[in-house]
Amino acid sequence: MTVVNLTSPAFNLTAITRPNILLLEPYRCARDDYKTGVLLDANENAYGPSVYTPDMASSNASSTFIDTDLIAGLNRYPDPHQEDVKQLLCDLRNAPNKEDSAIIPLAPDNLYVGVGSDECIDTVIRCFATPGKDKMLTCPPTYGMYSVAAQVNDVEVVKVNLDLETKGFPVRVDNVMEALANDPSIHLVYLCSPGNPTASLVDPEAVKKILSHPTWNGIVVVDEAYIDFSPVGSSMAPLVNLYDNLIVMQTLSKAFGMAGIRLGVSFASSAVARILNNVKAPYNISSLTSTLALKALSPSGLSNMDKNIDAIVSQRARLLQELPKIPGVGNFIGGEASNFLLVQILDKPGGVPCTATALKLYETLAGTKGVVIRFRGKEPGCVGSLRITVGTEEENTILLDKMKETLSEIYRSNM
Ligand SMILES: Cc1ncc(COP(=O)(O)O)c(C=O)c1O
Repeated sequence: MTVVNLTSPAFNLTAITRPNILLLEPYRCARDDYKTGVLLDANENAYGPSVYTPDMASSNASSTFIDTDLIAGLNRYPDPHQEDVKQLLCDLRNAPNKEDSAIIPLAPDNLYVGVGSDECIDTVIRCFATPGKDKMLTCPPTYGMYSVAAQVNDVEVVKVNLDLETKGFPVRVDNVMEALANDPSIHLVYLCSPGNPTASLVDPEAVKKILSHPTWNGIVVVDEAYIDFSPVGSSMAPLVNLYDNLIVMQTLSKAFGMAGIRLGVSFASSAVARILNNVKAPYNISSLTSTLALKALSPSGLSNMDKNIDAIVSQRARLLQELPKIPGVGNFIGGEASNFLLVQILDKPGGVPCTATALKLYETLAGTKGVVIRFRGKEPGCVGSLRITVGTEEENTILLDKMKETLSEIYRSNM
């Protein structure tokens, strides 16, 4: 089968890339070309890292998870390209589409890796939106860092709310298409799938429609931070070789349980990925991060991840069942495709969603009961709502008990 490129005919990468980025001569180090030998090229400290003592090698090599060779090597800069991590990420995302001849497999040159998705979000804006001139479009309620990164970069945000009247908050694709048709200064669209805080997958057909916009020249970013809590095959990452104007972001912070190492990923056409890689600091991914990422992406790491996802999915089912039994807990207004739920709190048992009660519950739980969840009641379409991360079985038991106790105290004090 011949593979068809489905990118919008209006897409022109050169025209939407910031002129200074197009002209950028990327930083090059000697290590880009030569990695071994007597390494006197990068002003490192050849005497070793200050945290390393020679007795570490014998004393704890086998008794701890930490690789002492790694610590001994920390005086050296990390690999600027992270090819091994990139290859494992490609293998992971290629696996569900192995048999699909219409999909071109992902390769390392489709990737940019950053210090968490948060760095990926910022890098895309820095490459494709000129400060004080270009704009980006978001669909609230959504992840707050899109607006923060936009403001840091002096990029105006155009907001087209998700459909706030429909459960699951679908994208109002016609409104997005219209906004893009009317404003060529919008260079980026940020969609979140599954959404935060909506926990709903964005319909891939909606994304494809935007990607094929007949007149708009820009890039669609699909942030898939929570994708591994959704059914296998939900990721749009494999489509980046069909749509040159698609960037798919993922992270090791959620399903992998590796938030502490800060590893985020952008999948993109090789032309877009090259631009992202040109602007990054040469050694943005630390050796500690890449060593642990390689372990997380190894067969045993992936099998541990699968077990944890199964546990989270089953605890999510428990919360879906048990939370509504608490008097004063209302409807789940989001979807079920992530590791959190969005639920409304009522002004009284059997009453109506109430933002003041949700805020009181949130503050009391965090302030005096030792349970921290997220108040989302001020987000569009989220009146009275709280976002609750699915915890361990024990944590969820505490959450359910404390929510029940606190809500009953709040209602009693209102009487
Ligand atoms: C939708 C979404 N994208 C990105 C991130 C940031 O991820 P990272 O830890 O990789 O920076 C988060 C974190 O909560 C998120 O909810």
